[in-house]
This record gives sequence, structure tokens and C-alpha cells, in this order.
Amino acid sequence: MWGDAWPRFSCVPWFHFRLASSAQGELVRKMKAESAPDVDVTKAVAELKARKKMLEAKELALQPKDDIVDRTKMEDTLKRRFFYDQAFAIYGGVSGLYDFGPVGCALKNNILQVWRQHFIQEEQILEIDCTMLTPESVLKTSGHVDKFADYMVKDVMNGECFRADHLLKAHLQKLMSDKKCTAEKKNEMEGVITQMDNYSQQELADLFVQYNVKSPSTGNDLTPPISFNLMFQTSIGPGGNMSGYLRPETAQGIFLNFKRLLEFNQGKLPFAAAQIGNSFRNEISPRSGLIRVREFTMAEIEHFVDPDEKVHSKFSNVADLEILLYSSKAQTSGQSAHIMRLGDAVEQGVINNSVLGYFIGRIYLYLIKVGVAKDKLRFRQHMDNEMAHYACDCWDAETKTSYGWIEIVGCADRSCYDLLCHARATRVPLVAERPLKELISLTWTSFEPNKGAIGKTYRKEAKLVMDFLAACDECYVTDQEKLLSENGEFTIEIDGTTFKLTKDMVNVKRFQKTLHVEDIVPNVIEPSFGIGRIMYSIFEHTFHIREGDEQRTLKP
Ligand code: ATP
Ligand code: GLY
Repeated sequence: MWGDAWPRFSCVPWFHFRLASSAQGELVRKMKAESAPDVDVTKAVAELKARKKMLEAKELALQPKDDIVDRTKMEDTLKRRFFYDQAFAIYGGVSGLYDFGPVGCALKNNILQVWRQHFIQEEQILEIDCTMLTPESVLKTSGHVDKFADYMVKDVMNGECFRADHLLKAHLQKLMSDKKCTAEKKNEMEGVITQMDNYSQQELADLFVQYNVKSPSTGNDLTPPISFNLMFQTSIGPGGNMSGYLRPETAQGIFLNFKRLLEFNQGKLPFAAAQIGNSFRNEISPRSGLIRVREFTMAEIEHFVDPDEKVHSKFSNVADLEILLYSSKAQTSGQSAHIMRLGDAVEQGVINNSVLGYFIGRIYLYLIKVGVAKDKLRFRQHMDNEMAHYACDCWDAETKTSYGWIEIVGCADRSCYDLLCHARATRVPLVAERPLKELISLTWTSFEPNKGAIGKTYRKEAKLVMDFLAACDECYVTDQEKLLSENGEFTIEIDGTTFKLTKDMVNVKRFQKTLHVEDIVPNVIEPSFGIGRIMYSIFEHTFHIREGDEQRTLKP
């Protein structure tokens, strides 16, 4: 039913794009209020997103010409003066890999030095530096092995790869630009483009057949789409039996060191840890210069906070900043971004809490400090269907460039997702203690190991087994107790090795305990900076060509 209510878009004149977005936003709201089927809501939201994109493209096209940089001239200057250039150029280069030259290095160092000053020093953040090689088990737990993927198709003859959604979209746009294409066909293809983010593997495969998509380089047939994980896989050690990946984000290293960092901070919340370092993503077809590369420097902060106290003590320092905000509500109702006082945005619930608000303010100040143009910077909230698998709210700092609005910093509320899943996988509690207002007396259930019997059976590995038993929670202990009484034994698994525990090795004890503190899993607010994209935005926002002068230059 909702599908029929879907007005098509192709013949809407440009000056009505805003109205069209607004009408679609209204429709989405109505559908949600009336609990329309999920599939229809998703369809309508996808249409809304497409309308927003077209509206933005139109707005960009309407800007004064001198507001948009001549990218070819700029990149030519940057490469000629060796700010950066393609890596391995004399071997033909590799897409998505770049080397920085002397001036690029100096600029990158300055950007990082200001970052350290602005965040690590002024916010007293704990900096760490973790290894980039990550065992598979960690990234399996974090969800990256299963979910960090895009669909890809291959030329059957020469193996050239294409990102399936990008290729299908380009193919349909080409068909639509053909004068012989009927209005009806155009509408149909527009519908496909708007749904692009939502197609399953099979649906994409069917569309490739339906529209007879071939390789744009050779005209050859293509394989059906396959899911392609964006992480670079490797094996750790000469035996080849420990699978691993180059990290796709620096954040995981911080989560895995949470216990040590909390101890370093005397067990107190809130606190933040940060890491600067390279991350790797095997982007399928990177064609946007520094914006989409396969190895890039990230600077990430994980701010750990009590979930019941998402309040930042220094929020008043940034509350008066006036920032261009584009909330998900504004996006769904077809409104444009508008400037708001941060304090008002938090008070009115546009930004969920003052911790998120504080970091948005600090990110804004940092970006302005390093040279991003104030009038080409906005913060856009993610809509429900574009959030990463770990996030419950997310605001991106976006800059206006010749590529349109691009994300340069993500600021996500990852809630307790990561700490919880790593704790479940490892059985190491990743929790902080919160003092109780009133003491609680409760029955405590834990394992009571028989050191002698375990030592005799497992010798050198006995300590591992004892440590594992000591870290088990009540629920797990109760489950194993059942097995112990039914079968006389249960098994545990540590680092891939199975240990059998019998009645003579372990018992379950219950006792009364008075609690002064309770365990909580902290929530995490994560500002995540892509240094290359920040640098690129600074290039675009500062590059100009002197009037009447063919010489290309960067503003001082
Ligand atoms: P996109 O949707 O553009 O691929 P993303 O949502 O995957 O970006 P995040 O996963 O939020 O990006 O990564 C955090 C930051 O890392 C981004 O804001 C961006 O600055 C940077 N980043 C991510 N992927 C790349 C890339 N391939 N090349 C350069 N920088 C990147
Ligand atoms: N750590 C944020 C991201 O990589 O998306």
C-alpha cells in the first residue's frame, strides 16, 4: 500500500527538490506513526535519502563557481610540489595507496601535533599505542569478520573487481541518460538506485542479470556479486595456523586494554583513552584520491562513561558554540541543516547527551584550528539505517568539498557493545565499579576449585584453569553445576584447548556477601578522526588561484 503512495521524482523541477524531500520526510513519519510494515518504511527512507542526495547535489551546483575548487589543478599542484603522490608510482602505482612528501609530512605532523595538544593534553586523555596485527578471534568478536564487508563483482576474463552497488548505479545512470529511455523505464531505474543500500546479495545478482551489466572497462561478463570483507587477512607466525588481520580501526586495541587503563585511572570513571595509528581497509575500487584509501592514519578517542551519568562536567565550555547541525529529524523532514547553539541542541534533545555534545564542540574547535573552513563544516546525525553495527547514535563531522559533503570525523555512541562482547568471548569482566548508595547483602555463587586435583591433572596449565574458574559469573557457574551433577563433569575452553573438570576438581559454593559497589559496563563515546580526509579538506578549503595569474598556489 505504501509503495503506491510513493511519488516518483524524475520530473520534479530543481526548485521543488526541497519540497519533495520534505513531503517524503512527512510520509516516512506518517508510516512510522502508523506502524507500516518495516519493508515499506525502509523503502521510503531509502527514497528520502536519495532525494536528500539530489537536493545536496543541486545546492552544490548552484554555488558560486569560485566556491568549488578546480580539483585537477589543485591535485596537480599538490603532486608537483610533492605534498603527496601515488605510492609505487614507478611500478605503475597501486590504487588507494599514497606516499607523503616533505611538505605533506610536515603538514600531517602539524595536524597530529595540534590533535595531541587539543585532546590528549588539554583533556588529559591516556594515550596508548597498540599493534596493528590483530588475531582473528578479536575481530570475530567485534563483528568485523562477519559484518565489515561490501558486495563485489569481477570481470570473468581479466578478474578486474568493481564494487557492485557503485557499478550498478553507474550503469543505470548511463541507461537513463540515453534519449531513447522511456519515462517509465527511468522511474523504474530510479527506484532501483534509491533502494541500492538495501538489496541482498541475491537481489543484486538478479538486478545485474536484469540490466545486463557488463564490465565498463572491457564489456566482458561479470561474476555474480560476492560479499567481500574489507579487512586485509594474513597469518601470524610461520606455522600459518593463527589467522589474523591488519586492524580496520584503532579502537579495538583500546577496548582490549580497558582493564589496564581503568587501573591506571585508579578505577574511576569517566576517563578517556586515545590512539593514533594506521588502519587498513581493502576498499574495492578506491577512486577518490586521499578520501578513500586502503591505508590511512586514524586518531581515535574512546571516552568511557557511566551509562547513567552521560553528563560532561566541562560541557559549559562549549555550550555557547554555534554549529551547523543536520539532525536525523531534519533529514527525515526534508529540512536543511541549521546553525544551533550547542547548549540548546543538548537541552532540546537534538544531541542525545552532553558528553556527545562536548565532543562535537571540541571536534569543531579542533577542525577550525587546523584550517577547515567554518562555513564548509557541519555535523550530520546518522539515520537509523546507516549506523555501524556497534553504534546507537552517531554524528559525523562533514566538510563541503568538490566531492560533495564528505565525512572526516565520526563521533559515535558505541554504548557498551564492544566491552560486553569482548567480556563474553574471553570471560574477562570488562567492568568498572560504581559505589552503591545502600549496601546490599546477597547470595554469591562461585566455583570452589580443588587446587591439588587440578594441579595433578593439568600441571603447568593448572593456573590457566584456576584463573578461568575464578572469573566465571553466576549464570555460567549455575549452568556448569547442572552438568556436574548430571554427568559428573563439564568442559571449558581456553585459547582453543579443552579442559575437562570433574567432581573431584571443582565444587560450587554459595555464601552471603555484602556489596559496597556494583559492577557496571561503561558506555563509550568515540570520536574517530581520519587524518587524510582532514588534510584533504584543508587543501580544498585553502587552495586558490590568484586572479589573472596562471600560477597555482596555496594561501599562506
Ligand atoms: P565511509 O562511509 O566514507 O567509508 P566510514 O563510515 O566507513 O566512512 P568510519 O568507519 O566511521 O568511516 O571511519 C572513521 C573515519 O576514518 C572516517 O570519518 C574517515 O575520516 C576515516 N576513513 C574511513 N575509511 C577511510 C578510507 N577508506 N580512506 C580514508 N579515510 C577513511
Ligand atoms: N572506530 C570507528 C570506525 O572505524 O568506524
